[in-house]
Amino acid sequence: MRTNILFLFFAFSVLIISNCSKSADNELIYADGSDGNWLLHGLNYSENRYSPLAQINEENIDQLGLDWQLDLGMKRGIEATPIIKDGVMYFTGPWSVVFAVDLRSHEIIWKYDPEVPKSFGEKGCCDVVNRGVALYNGQLYFGTFDGRLIALEAESGKLLWEVLTVDQSKPYTITGAPRVVNGKVLIGNGGAELGVRGYFTAYDAYTGDEIWRFYTVPGNPDEPFENEAMEKAAETWTGTWWEYGGGGTVWDAMAYDPELNLLYVGTGNGSPWNWKKRSPEGGDNLYLSSILALDPDTGELKWYYQTTPGDAWDFTATQHMILTELEIDDEPRKVIMQAPKNGFFYVLDRETGELISAEKFVYVNWADSIDLETGRPVERPHVRYVEANFQMAPDYNGGHNWQPMAYNPDLGYVFIPARETTSMYGQDSLWKFNKVGFGTGNGWNLATGTLYGKPTITDDKATIQGKLMAWDPVKQEAAWVVEQNNIWNGGLLTTASGLVFQGTADGKITAYRGSTGDLIWEADLQTGILSSPVTYLVDGVQYLTVITGWGGGYGMKNKHTNAVLPGTVYTFRIGGSADLPKVQPKYERALISPKWDLDLSKVSHGETTYWKYCGTCHVVAETGGGVAPDLGYSPMVGTPAFTSVVLDGALLINGMPNFGDRLNKDDAEAIQHYIINKVRTIQTAGK
Ligand code: HEC
Repeated sequence: MRTNILFLFFAFSVLIISNCSKSADNELIYADGSDGNWLLHGLNYSENRYSPLAQINEENIDQLGLDWQLDLGMKRGIEATPIIKDGVMYFTGPWSVVFAVDLRSHEIIWKYDPEVPKSFGEKGCCDVVNRGVALYNGQLYFGTFDGRLIALEAESGKLLWEVLTVDQSKPYTITGAPRVVNGKVLIGNGGAELGVRGYFTAYDAYTGDEIWRFYTVPGNPDEPFENEAMEKAAETWTGTWWEYGGGGTVWDAMAYDPELNLLYVGTGNGSPWNWKKRSPEGGDNLYLSSILALDPDTGELKWYYQTTPGDAWDFTATQHMILTELEIDDEPRKVIMQAPKNGFFYVLDRETGELISAEKFVYVNWADSIDLETGRPVERPHVRYVEANFQMAPDYNGGHNWQPMAYNPDLGYVFIPARETTSMYGQDSLWKFNKVGFGTGNGWNLATGTLYGKPTITDDKATIQGKLMAWDPVKQEAAWVVEQNNIWNGGLLTTASGLVFQGTADGKITAYRGSTGDLIWEADLQTGILSSPVTYLVDGVQYLTVITGWGGGYGMKNKHTNAVLPGTVYTFRIGGSADLPKVQPKYERALISPKWDLDLSKVSHGETTYWKYCGTCHVVAETGGGVAPDLGYSPMVGTPAFTSVVLDGALLINGMPNFGDRLNKDDAEAIQHYIINKVRTIQTAGK
């Protein structure tokens, strides 16, 4: 009898949990923003960032004004898309700190700091950013920069569980937002610049138990392969790639089709970048730079499409993917669309992975076209920079990076925060793989000399410029293009009222008419914007929120505003009348003029050391600096403060690494001679 009661109790609990999960799953499956919430990273599982709300429209947009703002008190990049449910907004800031904000009182309800050790700051290529949380059945999930996946109770911010998803002795970091599918939390990681093997993992949403893990590149073939996909992939690699990790990290985009029950995941670049060093006898190196379709319940690979076989340029396919139906040759097709770094816009059949079409959306000089028969790029000569240095377009920053696109089905346009980029690639003859990450040829484990040297093969058509564009995915051509002065602008949002919203590197939140590309509204927020705006309802009123917070890979070194202010939540509504932030004074620091006698014999060692250890975050006498100061303007140069910052970790608390374990006094001195020399050379040239 007792056992029966226990059994009944058990059966009943299972039923409750599974019913709970079913309705929680359905909440996400049917999420589309029409209830005024923003429940999923890309608003819906199709990730189209198309809000059906239309209270804010062309007729009243001139009355769109600031309603309230909230200073988050943290400098460094903010890339998060907030999740919004029933008047509460959840998002992440720098160092993977999570905020829950009451959208009625405009106050922080709770804040959760996972206390990522500041020494982890240097493990990432591109700032200590985080792209947001996932919400499921009252639980909030997020990844931390040091590789943990954490579940919190959404209401209170109380810790529910925490799992370590990476080997912390390796340079793995998490910056991407988790996704929840069928009760499983999916999370990948980054680190392919510094030498790691890519993978992503599914965890049970309730317990944090690992359910499956999918590696994106094969490990050492002397050891058993994890699955058939890895065995197949290993045939496309040569050499001893596993010693360097191989790369293929899953650091951002995913999408899900509940009808097909397929999870789509974008994979990253090769590690090291240099194909000749990574896989000396060639090969496509599956599954780098690919879109993978998997069964989310088992992690089994169903199909894949590789955008850049044998990647040699950091051409990740981790960029945003959007699912929709398109009428192609009079037939409705279920498609997945992506504009990865390599500069081609891809439309694939998402059931089979068949390539439907691919065209260049920015200037591309590495391939003529994508062959629709084979699905492979038709590469141009010399682009693999083996015989000569090559000036590549687009470059490692990509024709499009992580900044989310948006698809407006009424207009039939995919809006792309695109950019023209170019950079030089060449062999790094001094390259030797460095297991601890920082401290090789260019500071990274790239084996590619992108940071110095001159191209032997140049391309006059290659430029550097931001472009907001409306792309017609059926015709595979731009409907309109807005040329921007800044190349590192924010992600996009589109609405049923035909608007497109974007924050920019020069601190503006802008609105365009989606049909024509005319700028119809803007507000000046005085500090650079990376994240995507979101829109939602509170008590029946439509709001627009954008979070400023300059930083990221590009923003560490550069800025396009007078100052870099702390991250701030800005919320607008029709009739909002709060004051916009004050115009910031122009950056007036003078170039340094230390009293030191310049020792020219030390400059060369200083320059090499600088490029090995500092050049990924700092510039010298260039732009005034972004998040990390321009050292050509630092009053610490030529004073003991410099040594204490560099060798004793005096500013570690703010994310300036402590190099005491790798550099000595002579190195620090040499770096200063290099800085002083560069400043004096510029000053002399200016006179
Ligand atoms: C991972 C990124 C990163 C790397 C690599 C890095 N720095 Fe920094 N550095 C920072 C940040 C962030 C700050 C600003 C800290 C603050 O706000 O107090 C900073 C500040 C400094 C400052 C203080 C400047 C001032 O005027 O306030 C000096 C000096 C400095 N760094 C020198 C170096 C040198 C030399 C190297 C190479 C050996 C280096 N940094 C490498 C991120 C970095």
